[in-house]
Amino acid sequence: MSTKERTDSDLVVLGGGPAGYSAALRASQLGLSVTLIEADKIGGTCLHRGCIPTKALLHVAEVADAARRSEAIGVLSSFTGIDAVKVGEFRDNIVARLYQGVTSLIKSAGVEVISGNGRLVGPRTIAVAGRTVTGRFVVIATGATSKTIPGIELGPRIITSDLALQTSISPRRAIVLGGGVIGVEFASIWASFGAEVTIIEALPRLVASEDTWSSTQLERAFKRRGIAVHTEAKVDSVQESSSGVTIDLSTGNSVEADVLLVAAGRVPRSVGLGLEEHGARLDRGFVATDDRLRTNIEGVYALGDLVAGPQLAHRGFQHGIFVAEEIAGRHPVGVPDHLFPRVTYSHPEIASVGLDEASARRTYGDITTGVYDFAGNGKSQILRTAGGIKVIQAGTAASPGPVVGVHMVGERASELIGEAQMTVAWEALPEEVAHFIHAHPTQNEAFGEAMLAIAGRPLHSHR
Ligand code: NAI
Repeated sequence: MSTKERTDSDLVVLGGGPAGYSAALRASQLGLSVTLIEADKIGGTCLHRGCIPTKALLHVAEVADAARRSEAIGVLSSFTGIDAVKVGEFRDNIVARLYQGVTSLIKSAGVEVISGNGRLVGPRTIAVAGRTVTGRFVVIATGATSKTIPGIELGPRIITSDLALQTSISPRRAIVLGGGVIGVEFASIWASFGAEVTIIEALPRLVASEDTWSSTQLERAFKRRGIAVHTEAKVDSVQESSSGVTIDLSTGNSVEADVLLVAAGRVPRSVGLGLEEHGARLDRGFVATDDRLRTNIEGVYALGDLVAGPQLAHRGFQHGIFVAEEIAGRHPVGVPDHLFPRVTYSHPEIASVGLDEASARRTYGDITTGVYDFAGNGKSQILRTAGGIKVIQAGTAASPGPVVGVHMVGERASELIGEAQMTVAWEALPEEVAHFIHAHPTQNEAFGEAMLAIAGRPLHSHR
């Protein structure tokens, strides 16, 4: 990089979602001057159209289910319906509070924020809002957007998650096209709100990126909840009218509903940013980087959903911190993609970290697996949740290796994945974790029991 080049900031960040704003915050903590360019609102998809508003709706769904089930445990209440306006207020207040928090963090960190659509016009220069800003380093973190399916035009009744969230839509009958994370979360919300829900998935199982055990657990639970699931189903045609949507499937089935949610994946937002014009290499739309998140343009990094891998907000946060520390000369340690914990916040929840059984077998050959069923866990019984914890260990009883994967299905599994992440990332042996103490009665005990069981000394489990 030319040392004579005049720069406006040490770091210019394009995109203020979790990846971009955490790069900006960390860089400014490390003494760098930072300019952050955002076309919409700081917080990005996660805060405004993703993680936070969906989880607010999922909490409402949980309360609706609790009301429905309350009489069975002696609390005399009943579920009579959803007040969409109040739900919307609840969701929006949470988003607004967090938005205020993050904007004030950015402000007090001294980050210069420019509103507008930025575009690379020089190797490290971005044009935005009628001016140009040149950085010693540039970070591109423009995220991803919903994928559309050829032949299925979006319309008032054919929507993506953006609209499903914004309008507090509460359909009577809903079709969800795509049984991945977004699909099963919305199917779960709408079923809890009282809708008849059908999921259509092209692959043989729901949440196909998870361990097959987790998919089976979820499919069983969804069946009990009355959610219809068509797997290995291709769409032949879709008709939208003023009163509804009809979808014809390759299986010969046809399904009608008020709303069709297209949840078929998210594509990186890499077009129109001037990346290719300046020599950046793209791969299926994702910006290609090395393992230090460097693109092939000198001084330009790409992070978050723009880089192929799990599209998770906490991966974005970690990428942002990593790159800020990297350019500040701190030599940070990277986190491989399989060590990011993954959570699907449906009812029941799915949480996992590390390898699934098939990948572990491919990687290690000999592996040992065990499942601890929540049926043996007191707190899970109190919460009336089915499910359990599956542990995958490299090696055999004769030659035990570390825990390389943990998969959980059940209520509040999201709150249990932290210890599992640490166990897998630390490459701990089950025996090393098994002697740690878990408070009784907690669901967390199930993790301890799973470790005891796989270490060959089960306490509360049937063998
Ligand atoms: P996804 O890739 O998880 O699932 C999309 C599903 O749609 C796949 O199973 C695919 O086989 C299916 N599909 C695609 N085209 C189809 C067609 N024509 N007919 C039938 N099925 C079809 O993508 P999703 O659910 O849209 O989520 C996007 C990203 O956002 C994911 O990477 C996800 O991890 C992330 N996300 C994470 C959340 C979380 O961490 N809780 C919440 C929501 C999204």
